[in-house]
Amino acid sequence: MKAQGKKVVCVTAYDATTAAIADQAGVDLILVGDSVGNVSLGYKNTLPVTLEQMLHHTAAASRAGVQALLVADLPFGSYQSGVSDAVKASVLLMKAGAEAVKLEGPYTDEIAAIVKAGIPVMGHVGMTPQSYYSFGGHKIQGKGDEGDKVLADALAVEASGAFSVVLELIPEDLAEKISKKLSIPTIGIGAGWQCDGQVQVFHDVVGLTELRLKHARRHAEGWTTFRDAIQTYAREVRD
Ligand code: KIV
Repeated sequence: MKAQGKKVVCVTAYDATTAAIADQAGVDLILVGDSVGNVSLGYKNTLPVTLEQMLHHTAAASRAGVQALLVADLPFGSYQSGVSDAVKASVLLMKAGAEAVKLEGPYTDEIAAIVKAGIPVMGHVGMTPQSYYSFGGHKIQGKGDEGDKVLADALAVEASGAFSVVLELIPEDLAEKISKKLSIPTIGIGAGWQCDGQVQVFHDVVGLTELRLKHARRHAEGWTTFRDAIQTYAREVRD
């Protein structure tokens, strides 16, 4: 798709219903993201998400039998401790129904080992939410001179064998530069339009969150639509 200049459309889904909706909409890639932690499980960030929870949500999304490529996130703590843990966790996600895994940061040895095990890996650089506390929150990364570090991370991820890389919350010109340097597709979120594709959180696209994010354009008002529907139902029952 990159060679043909076709943009790659990616969205998250955490269960069979949202995966089926996204698939019917014709997206190219469905990500069972660890954003399930803050979006659906009520955590403040993605750090508390466990491998068991990711296996549960990956299996649920996979039961929708989607046409899109189903990628599952390796959660915090499942690969940072080394190659062996990274491969074991990836194997479990594949057994649960994933077709590829994603991990955050330039974990080059881990990426190479997972790829060697026959599992496609997607990288993720820039603002990597599992490093929430190192970054002091969800803040833009790679401004000014720090851009070289993000570029080096993306190149290292590619050299390790990743098939694609997410660029999150980095300046648009940096994302453009990285997208031109890499031969694998870059998938942006809050990184401008020049990436080879975009990824968004399902709930942000359909307005199922009360919070409005600058980098996520809403295409429905899910929260109020669903609330009003439940209100109508409640009124009908009470009447
Ligand atoms: O967990 C997630 O949803 C993600 C994307 C936003 C890239 O990692």
